[in-house]
Amino acid sequence: MAAPRRDKGRAIRGSGIAIAILIGIALGCIFAFFFPHGFFGPDWPTQTRPFSKSTLQIGSSSCESPERVNMLKADVVSLSEKNAQLNKQVRELTERLRLSEQGKDNAQKQVMALGEQHKAGPFGTVKALRTSPTVLPDESVNPRLAKILDQVAVRKELIVALANSNVKTMLEVWFNSIKRVGITNYLVVALDDQILEFCKSNDVPVYKRDPNDGIDSIARTGGNHAVSGLKFRILREFLQLGYSVLLSDVDIIYLQNPFDHLYRDSDVESMSDGHNNMTAYGYNDVFDEPAMGWARYAHTMRIWVFNSGFFYIRPTIPSIELLDRVADRLARQQNSWDQAVFNEELYFPSHPGYDGLHAAKRTMDFYLFMNSKVLFKTVRTDAKLKKLKPVIVHVNYHPDKLPRMKAVVEFYVNGKQDALEPFPAGSNW
Ligand SMILES: *[C@@H]1O[C@H](CO)[C@@H](O)[C@H](O)[C@H]1NC(C)=O
Repeated sequence: MAAPRRDKGRAIRGSGIAIAILIGIALGCIFAFFFPHGFFGPDWPTQTRPFSKSTLQIGSSSCESPERVNMLKADVVSLSEKNAQLNKQVRELTERLRLSEQGKDNAQKQVMALGEQHKAGPFGTVKALRTSPTVLPDESVNPRLAKILDQVAVRKELIVALANSNVKTMLEVWFNSIKRVGITNYLVVALDDQILEFCKSNDVPVYKRDPNDGIDSIARTGGNHAVSGLKFRILREFLQLGYSVLLSDVDIIYLQNPFDHLYRDSDVESMSDGHNNMTAYGYNDVFDEPAMGWARYAHTMRIWVFNSGFFYIRPTIPSIELLDRVADRLARQQNSWDQAVFNEELYFPSHPGYDGLHAAKRTMDFYLFMNSKVLFKTVRTDAKLKKLKPVIVHVNYHPDKLPRMKAVVEFYVNGKQDALEPFPAGSNW
């Protein structure tokens, strides 16, 4: 409807413009005759001449002197140079705008995370943010799981273990130890029907994911590494639903309720593979290179890895980013080991070509959250340490898991003082 009217208006306006141009050409010729050097004289700076002049000049060239034509040509050259310059400026400014938008976006996210700006305050009173805010729960991610978690979780947290039929006997020792301590907020993610039925018949909270989704096809068709990445993909949903998860392997004996021994101040709180204060909590390892003479000592930072089979993870953006980064690398890099990748992502700083993860981390007390090296090498040979009751024992350092798990139960639960003795500290290859 509006189009024809607009066309008509354009035609009328067009003929008016043609008349104006003709008048302009005529006036141009007259003025060129009377004022051969223009109105403003030769001193008028080129850069600030009005653009409209150049449109007048095209039609008037027929009655210009050669000198004037050269001047006009120079004008055109300088104007196109100017145009190129302006284009370049526009490009630069657009790029700067894009960068500042990006910066603003990051800054805004940080402001949202950190709240208002504050002054630093006096010496000794300054503490950086360690505890990230939790994400807004998103039930639409998995409504069925949301319902299960609503029933199982206590204060929005729970123990989660993945299990298939290969670990059925260990799983039984695992959930019996959990039941004995009176923990109710735990859930087995069954990777096959046999485990699903086994849990149901033992009154163990269990969840099997809907078949035919992308994750299952990884489980069915993927190699070892893709499958170890599964854990991180599955955990993501729990965090998105707003729950804190204490992820647990099944080669673990529970002796106390771990939720009574968490700090909950970090994105990730993990048990350590370390065996003493230095190895578990970090130390300055001096590297010696005598050829360097005066500077022969180079200081390095060392820490034994977090055990990716037992960690508490809060539902925060850094935590979810961690899960995504680990899952992504395990999917892309053949021969990568999930525990190594988990630690590298947590600890390596940003550097050229790499943006490191900024997650807060805490190492659990290695006597309370005890690995089997600490138990079989140190604790069982030390009269005082032997009297301590750990929260959990993780049989991570030994391949004969089931008999050692049972021995741990005998020792700590049934009080059989020599239950740990038959086992060597290390294992044969
Ligand atoms: C290890 O660290 C704890 C505190 O984390 C401390 O109480 C203990 O004395 C330390 N042990 C040794 C052997 O340094």
